[in-house]
Amino acid sequence: MCGITGIVSMNRNNIGEVLVKCSRKLTYRGYDSVGLAAVHNGKVELRKEVGTIDEVDKLLGLSKMLGDRGISQLRWATYGAPTRINAQPHFACDDILFGAHNGNIHNYVEYRQELVDAGHIVRSENDGELCVHAVDKYYEQTADMFEAVRLSIRDLKGAYAYTVGRADMEELYAVKMGSSLVAGLAEHDTIVSSDLPSILPLTNNVVYLQDGEMLRLTPNDVEVFRIEDGRHLDRPPETSTVDEQAAEKGGYPHFMLKEINEQPKVAEDVLGVLQGSKTEKWLKMIEDASRHFLVACGTSYHAGIVGTYYFNKYAGIPLIPAIGGQFIPMYGNTLTDDSLSILVSQSGETKDIINVLNLAKENSSFGKTLGIVNVIGSTLMFGADAYIPMACGYEVSVPATKTYYSQVIIFAYLAALLGERNGTLDSSEAKACIDTLSRDLPRLTQDTINRTGIHAKDLARTLVDFKDMYCLGYGFTDGVAQEGALKIKEIAYNHCEGMYSSEFKHGPLSIIQDGYPVIFVTTRENSWMVINHLSEVRVRGGRTIIVGEYEDKLRHYVDSGKDYLVVPASNLFLNPLLNVIPLQLLSYFLSVDLGINPDMPRNLSKTLTVD
Ligand code: M6R
Repeated sequence: MCGITGIVSMNRNNIGEVLVKCSRKLTYRGYDSVGLAAVHNGKVELRKEVGTIDEVDKLLGLSKMLGDRGISQLRWATYGAPTRINAQPHFACDDILFGAHNGNIHNYVEYRQELVDAGHIVRSENDGELCVHAVDKYYEQTADMFEAVRLSIRDLKGAYAYTVGRADMEELYAVKMGSSLVAGLAEHDTIVSSDLPSILPLTNNVVYLQDGEMLRLTPNDVEVFRIEDGRHLDRPPETSTVDEQAAEKGGYPHFMLKEINEQPKVAEDVLGVLQGSKTEKWLKMIEDASRHFLVACGTSYHAGIVGTYYFNKYAGIPLIPAIGGQFIPMYGNTLTDDSLSILVSQSGETKDIINVLNLAKENSSFGKTLGIVNVIGSTLMFGADAYIPMACGYEVSVPATKTYYSQVIIFAYLAALLGERNGTLDSSEAKACIDTLSRDLPRLTQDTINRTGIHAKDLARTLVDFKDMYCLGYGFTDGVAQEGALKIKEIAYNHCEGMYSSEFKHGPLSIIQDGYPVIFVTTRENSWMVINHLSEVRVRGGRTIIVGEYEDKLRHYVDSGKDYLVVPASNLFLNPLLNVIPLQLLSYFLSVDLGINPDMPRNLSKTLTVD
């Protein structure tokens, strides 16, 4: 949520153009409002408005703003409505000190009052403004910007990152206190940002920060300091291998469609990682633990649900799933030092997950943590006892697609190896599982995209007017159905509830009337059971839609071929990976048909760094 970018340049004058170009890459973090503060000839010019970066740029000419340094911010609103006054960056009391933040200041109410009582002119209801005033307060006391930034965190409680500058100083400062922050060192510019994609247009020399650290950006250097005592830290830049093109649409109308189409390649890439030498360490961590928890949110949680089925069937290991925010209230009191929490997060910054990570770090009786994470340099990647990279490249679209796919492959692969090691599978069974992943999955994934694309588009046209539906799964398709339902809600704004199909008769069945749509996600192994659930809906006039392999016996349960999204024949091991694709495509086409941009669903942000 929210994306900040700050640039200090050696000799350029077109800071607006460069900041817009770089911060456009953070659009997935926030699109409620956008602002840009540029320093030109010792004066700060601030322009900001409600809207996406492209809308605000068009309206206010952000990219025409002159200067050699500046800060931009893309906002996802939490404190303060999405209005112009609450848009960031903010000035402190005068128009000299300016800055913007990402995250939440938890003591907002008390601290705002304290500042007002002390005579500060606080204009907005946005907590980011308090960061700027906190620095201003300490600058008044010390007349030293470095010290003012360092001391400001005494006052600011919460999880946040911010960047600030002054009209009369050539440098910018930034702090990382619980929200993501990376920096880059280019030939003629230095840059700080919430995320790597906005650094890459300028450089791939990247400096990663840890919580409790601050930065000073001058035109030719990025210096890192420990906030606690101001000690300088030696942190040479690393060369990022992330492809900048990952943040381009590459000819597709939307990032979501591009990312769905990248899944065959993701299969190859993540399998490459899993076939590497680090897998032994991950397997050992799992084997050494006596209890295994799976903690994740949203799509990552659904992939984790699928993972629990793999672990049960193939590895004979019970993996206990919990939603990020639920984990501690539900299991916190029962954790032991031989527990393992598998924390799954695309961004590696989701606050509900980082809260668990932080508690585990503080408390050895919580056991160990194993991250499954996509964003390199994220808090989860640095903080977990070990991490498995998802190897997906950047996922830009807010709806997660290829990252679900990678997460499920990781669970499937680990389950097969663990099963072989502990005797749940014999070696030929385990080999068959691994072989089907590497030999069949990329091809079958491509086949599924090709086969179901047009079909999902046709089906979407018949579903656009239904504001309410269900998506039901059974066994291995439990998490798949929940994921399909989430996608439809998220980007079509039509309510769709994901549920276990045998549970439907315990209440929700009463909603069925003529034509009410219910999607069933099936596997060949369980279709005999799902037929019961299909019948219960159909005899009451409901419209049943099937996603799964073609089976003659199922064909009778749909009105026409249109209502049967057929995936290529495979096996149970691959099923949760293939069945999700038609649901991704269906939600995509529903969204587009409804005139929604699926990459930027309203009210959402890809990286949720707030509680
Ligand atoms: O970065 P994370 O995997 O931790 O994100 C978790 C959820 O916020 C995320 O999966 C969300 O549900 C997706 N936008 C759904 O498409």
